[in-house]
Amino acid sequence: MFTREEALGLVEGADPVDLFGPADPDRREQAHRLYRGLVAALHPDRVAADDVRAHAASADLTRLYHEWQHTGPVVLRTARGSYRVAARHAVGSVANVYLTDGPHVVKVVRNPALTPLLRAEWDALRLLGRFTDEHTWLRPYYPRLVDTGDVGRGERAFTVLEPLVDGFVTLADVRRAFPGGLDGRDYAWMHRRLLRAVAGAHRAGLVHGAIVADNVLVHPEQHGIVLAGWSFAVAAGQPPLATAKSVDYPPEVAAGRPLTPATDVHMAHALMLDLLAEDEIRQRRFAAGCVQDVPERRPDAADLLDEYDELLDELYGARVFRPFALPDTKGA
Ligand SMILES: Nc1ncnc2c1ncn2[C@@H]1O[C@H](COP(=O)(O)OP(=O)(O)OP(=O)(O)O)[C@@H](O)[C@H]1O
Ligand SMILES: [Mg+2]
Repeated sequence: MFTREEALGLVEGADPVDLFGPADPDRREQAHRLYRGLVAALHPDRVAADDVRAHAASADLTRLYHEWQHTGPVVLRTARGSYRVAARHAVGSVANVYLTDGPHVVKVVRNPALTPLLRAEWDALRLLGRFTDEHTWLRPYYPRLVDTGDVGRGERAFTVLEPLVDGFVTLADVRRAFPGGLDGRDYAWMHRRLLRAVAGAHRAGLVHGAIVADNVLVHPEQHGIVLAGWSFAVAAGQPPLATAKSVDYPPEVAAGRPLTPATDVHMAHALMLDLLAEDEIRQRRFAAGCVQDVPERRPDAADLLDEYDELLDELYGARVFRPFALPDTKGA
């Protein structure tokens, strides 16, 4: 049984596939049960007569269920292939990421007006793809573009990507799992790799522009880091196409200046300060030097690679593999 709040949370603003899952015949029973449960929670007998929100949601629910029953499975097509959308995997700042019935995931922009951001990401990922063909050691740090679905006005563009699903979490998940902040020895491998991703992008001439916890994918078991979420990327020195409400920008971006590699350096180290435990004094001091207000005073990512390794050497000596797991997945 759902409460009124739970039902409103599920129904308001939903689209049929988000609410009921992929439009597959074998999900009919499950969808019907969910529909019945929500109908009951929003039923006029259960909510107040003047509960306008619940009445509107109830009408939406009927429409959503009708649409779900009458849409075939969502199949996204490009000149190169077709991708049948399955369960939703994640909700991002501008797009949703869905599993497919094949080996890939698709990232579908929620608002067609934001298609230019997806196109910007295609440019960035293509550039990184070419760059890492040459600099192969950087390959693991970036998402791999498989295919793109460009569209006309009012339709939703999408990106087909290699999946980063099994064993991956985001740095936002990591932060939630460790509310007291991370041990410096755990953050050490994450930050070393993030710095490589950032320095590599800068060498390729790109600024990521949105280095936040949601855009850093972490493979705890394999100590993997992938810098995802390239929709806000630009060539170094260009103004951002847009800014995201969910992102805390360095002062120069808030002041309307273009994005430079120093912008990424600031964001990566604001993230570091956010993730590290309070008593990681030396690492926090390192990060503080990289979040100075004046972009020119921040070190280059390429120089930071060595400086960070020196700091880690001093703090912990020779590197040893230190297993890392999220608390609720430990022992799983
Ligand atoms: N290739 C992938 N495989 C699996 N999950 C992914 C992949 N890429 C992204 N994700 C997940 O989906 C979420 C949203 O993706 P992404 O960050 O690319 O979209 P966005 O936030 O809408 O756009 P952007 O970050 O480019 O502005 C990520 O936070 C991550 O959890
Ligand atoms: Mg994102």
